[in-house]
Amino acid sequence: MNRILVHLLTALCCALMAAGSLATAPPGQALTAIDARYAQLGGAAGRLGAPAGAEFCGLRNGGCQRNYQRGSIVWSPATGAQPSYGAIRQTWLAYGSQNGRFGYPTGPEVCGLRDGGCYQNYQGGSIIWSPTTGARISVGAIRARWASTNFENGALGYPVSNEECSAGTCKQRYQRGLITWTARAGTVLSRDIDVASSSVVVVNKRRPLSPARYAPGPLVGVGGPSLRSDAAQQFTRLLADARASGVAMVPVSGYRSFDTQASLYTSYVNQYGRVTADLISARPGYSEHQTGLAIDIGNSNGACGLQECFAGTPAGAWAAQNAWRYGFIIRYPRGQTSVTGYAYEPWHLRYVGTTISSEMRAHRLPTLEHYMSLPAAPSY
Ligand code: DAL
Ligand code: ZN
Repeated sequence: MNRILVHLLTALCCALMAAGSLATAPPGQALTAIDARYAQLGGAAGRLGAPAGAEFCGLRNGGCQRNYQRGSIVWSPATGAQPSYGAIRQTWLAYGSQNGRFGYPTGPEVCGLRDGGCYQNYQGGSIIWSPTTGARISVGAIRARWASTNFENGALGYPVSNEECSAGTCKQRYQRGLITWTARAGTVLSRDIDVASSSVVVVNKRRPLSPARYAPGPLVGVGGPSLRSDAAQQFTRLLADARASGVAMVPVSGYRSFDTQASLYTSYVNQYGRVTADLISARPGYSEHQTGLAIDIGNSNGACGLQECFAGTPAGAWAAQNAWRYGFIIRYPRGQTSVTGYAYEPWHLRYVGTTISSEMRAHRLPTLEHYMSLPAAPSY
């Protein structure tokens, strides 16, 4: 039998040991549980790559570790030898690895979740990743509540923030809602679709306002037009910063009531016919402007007002570059009519909050429908 075969057989025999709680051999002797796990995961040809240093021990609760090019295997008597790599590893490290609230991994990363997601379980909770939402922690009572909605497959989707606690209140945001925890009330779940105070509501040709005559509140003026207060606050900052950098940006149209939208839409139909009107204007009860979270901007000299060439003007270019910093997105980007149902509108900004605007930018997601994994809404 050649040496490689002997090695493989040894690895195979010890893979079982690796998964269990058998003690690892001291470094430098025989095949350790970490070595066996490494071989089981494909060795240097696997996801971890070649070893980067020798196995070392003395970690918390008698643990050992070996590092590889693209991650590590960590072993403890209670959890066996488990691999750790990629974005999930980064989050685990950020929370203090085995010394933090997560402790040791209790299994390997498991993939094949909805939309290409993966998770890894730890002694103190889980970390769940998807390509569009990143690696987020999932722990404790908030995790239990999310679990009761069927995890990422349910109404909330993947977590888009980590659990954040301050002054006795913990919160975690999901693709389509929020879970809040306090010792007094336990967990409270708010789904975006039901919540007027959320900035994550999606309105499109398949998702009308409900009720159709919904009116947001409170509204705050932003120099003519008005917006819902949270969006107004951020837009005011955006406008001031644009102006401070020499861009003469002006607000053109913000909140529009059902009736205002109705007359606007009718005027477009009379002017251009229904097909064109539907490409450039929402029907009443279907406009984002009715949420108080959308605002059309212009240049103070009116250059390219509400036209595609606005993108090339100072206000259009500045917004495309910077609006995300204030929690706004260009809601109807170029080339996305089959998803949004509307022609390119480089002037139409939609407030979604900075968590989502940053995520969409980082993952190059062109529309809210992509971000929320919602169906395209090209028509009514
Ligand atoms: N122009 C956008 C699509 C609206 O009417 O809401
Ligand atoms: Zn608009």
